[in-house]
Amino acid sequence: MAKYLIEGGSRLHGEIRVKGAKNLALKIIPAALLSTETITITNLPDIEDVRQTLAILADLGASIERDGETCRIRIEKIKKSHLAEQAHKLRASIVFTGPLLARTGEAYFPHPGGCVIGAGTRPIDLFLEGFRTLGIEVNEESGLYHLKADKVRGGEYFFTTISVTGTETLMMTAVLASGRTTLKNCAVEPEIKALADYLNSQGAKIKGAGTPTIEIDGVEKISGGKFEIIPDRIETGTFAIMAAATGSELTISGCNPSHIEILLCIFKKIGVKFERGDDWLKIFAGGKVRPYNIKTHEYPGFPTDLQSPFTVLATQADGISIIHETIYDRRLLFTDMLAQMGADIIMCDPHRVVVNGPTKLAGKRLTSPDLRAGIAMIIAGLIAEGTTEIDNIYQIDRGYEKIDERLRAIGAKIQRVDG
Ligand code: EPZ
Repeated sequence: MAKYLIEGGSRLHGEIRVKGAKNLALKIIPAALLSTETITITNLPDIEDVRQTLAILADLGASIERDGETCRIRIEKIKKSHLAEQAHKLRASIVFTGPLLARTGEAYFPHPGGCVIGAGTRPIDLFLEGFRTLGIEVNEESGLYHLKADKVRGGEYFFTTISVTGTETLMMTAVLASGRTTLKNCAVEPEIKALADYLNSQGAKIKGAGTPTIEIDGVEKISGGKFEIIPDRIETGTFAIMAAATGSELTISGCNPSHIEILLCIFKKIGVKFERGDDWLKIFAGGKVRPYNIKTHEYPGFPTDLQSPFTVLATQADGISIIHETIYDRRLLFTDMLAQMGADIIMCDPHRVVVNGPTKLAGKRLTSPDLRAGIAMIIAGLIAEGTTEIDNIYQIDRGYEKIDERLRAIGAKIQRVDG
């Protein structure tokens, strides 16, 4: 099993460029099912989850040409309506279901796998309810879900829990429906508006993406198109927190600071100094970091995907911080490994920890349970005295392209050891 070895104690310096947003790429690729023409995607990150998503699309009959960060996709004929085995490994594979059904009239898929951060298997009740309101028959047959509809018809669906992929999947399913679909209490993440902009550039009729109410007027077909993936706001926030936690001066380029407004507001409150431009952010090495209580929340609230890195920063803050993870049941479990490194962390319940800082961290052997905990462990390793070894780095490679090379380029002592 490959692992990362990190020697702590060195400051970062220079500039790191942010890659395209993973959580948009994993939706733009399935969206290609909605068109029979060529789709060209640029600024596509080269990460494991993207490779798996492309493999699922190829398995359905897509021809795919990849050239660095550019990918050309064309699906003239769909070979089958069964989502491949890979779907078990990737939670986001559920996004394929709606477009596949919209294109072929049916879709078979397993319960999506992937991250361990949700209690048990990540629920998909909202997706199934939403499909039914669009006139889609939903059955379970020998361990697979089976969706069937000769024609998707417009409907109205209210999300009783805000769901990012739920919003994206139903929005895409409605693009080729007959009539109008209204989705209420939608997620408003920037990636959702970007997805709608992309689909509208191909002839879809989507209004309100990025707000809680989205209206989609179905069209007969949509054309091909060219689309640039927006910068990854979670990479941006992760690198900013990494700089603050290691007391480094670091420029983060090719980003959109307005997508991490809440983190920057908190930085001001806790004493992290920075300057920003339209597509760059510069973090300055500073003195003590003040503690802060965070409560994760759907966008534009504090993103759950930045909670793990921020919890590591809290171990270096001068006082007590309460970290309240409201979205997922298991996303704080990694704090046990931070405690083994010397952090003073008390788990009140699966959703809340109290962090008392600052504490010295000592390098340890760790295992990355999910990609955000994994990058948080890299940050902890950069702070710790001695060597930190992180196993199961597949979880990190899922979401951070060539992270060891990119961090070495800004001064981190990190090596990848394969085998
Ligand atoms: C997306 O996950 C992101 N993944 C996650 O990023 C992100 O953490 C999450 O949104 C929240 O922002 C992708 O976009 C690929 P949800 P998603 O459906 O859509 C409950 C990362 O690290 N729920 O918004 O799968 C669910 O249990 C990943 O990049 C239901 O109850 O998350 C959770 O509590 C991790 N029923 C809440 O909604 C459903 O049918 C939010 O889940 C669906 C979801």
